[in-house]
Amino acid sequence: MTTVHIPVITIDGPTASGKGTVSHLVAQRLGFHYLDSGALYRLTALSALRKGVDLGDEHALAKLARDLQCSFSGEDVFLAHENVSAAIRAEEVGNTASKIAALSTVRQALYRLQLDFRKAPGLVADGRDMGTVIFPHAPLKVFLTASVEARAERRYKQLIGKGFSANMSDLLKDLKERDERDANRTVAPLKPAEGAYVLDTSAMGVDEAVERVLGWYAALKKQHAV
Ligand code: DC
Repeated sequence: MTTVHIPVITIDGPTASGKGTVSHLVAQRLGFHYLDSGALYRLTALSALRKGVDLGDEHALAKLARDLQCSFSGEDVFLAHENVSAAIRAEEVGNTASKIAALSTVRQALYRLQLDFRKAPGLVADGRDMGTVIFPHAPLKVFLTASVEARAERRYKQLIGKGFSANMSDLLKDLKERDERDANRTVAPLKPAEGAYVLDTSAMGVDEAVERVLGWYAALKKQHAV
């Protein structure tokens, strides 16, 4: 069955730009499904770290991605039947995810899985290449960004809030390195998709960002473009 008529809103952007929170809320407000594509890379990374797979072995990593037994329930993420929502957010897993996400075989292995999230009545897809590669014909594409300082501060508060220790200069260094890797890789580099609305949230609260996205979507609906 074709799914091309099912609306998709893509929300791409760098680490800690707030796109996860914004995407979740937009999906909730519209009653749409939600794809956290970063979680798929994180699940592959977690699985590789646990199984001790050599991070230089592209084929073994692609196989892990292809055979990934994952499921989502609300904000919870499961690997097989284990709830790994907290485990996939560890910094080590994020860094490993960013490294393996540069491999084209891993990206190809996760391609089909991502398309399968397109279900009625609609989908909000959050990631780095949702608008450029996975859903290039989405009627609404958004690129959410924020200064590296604003993002580091958000990440700092998030970690402290969860009871983890955090160091601002380490976080800044880490984010810069990850941005560099995500934006300069040869496959699916992080960049705004053609026709994307770019939203800088450095000085903007979550609610305002959500309203902007919903406003763009409502305008498209009014023009019968979705
Ligand atoms: O959004 P996140 O921090 O959970 O993503 C984890 C890593 O996965 C990030 O470093 C980049 C990568 N990623 C990607 O390459 N493509 C996506 N669509 C989503 C995430």
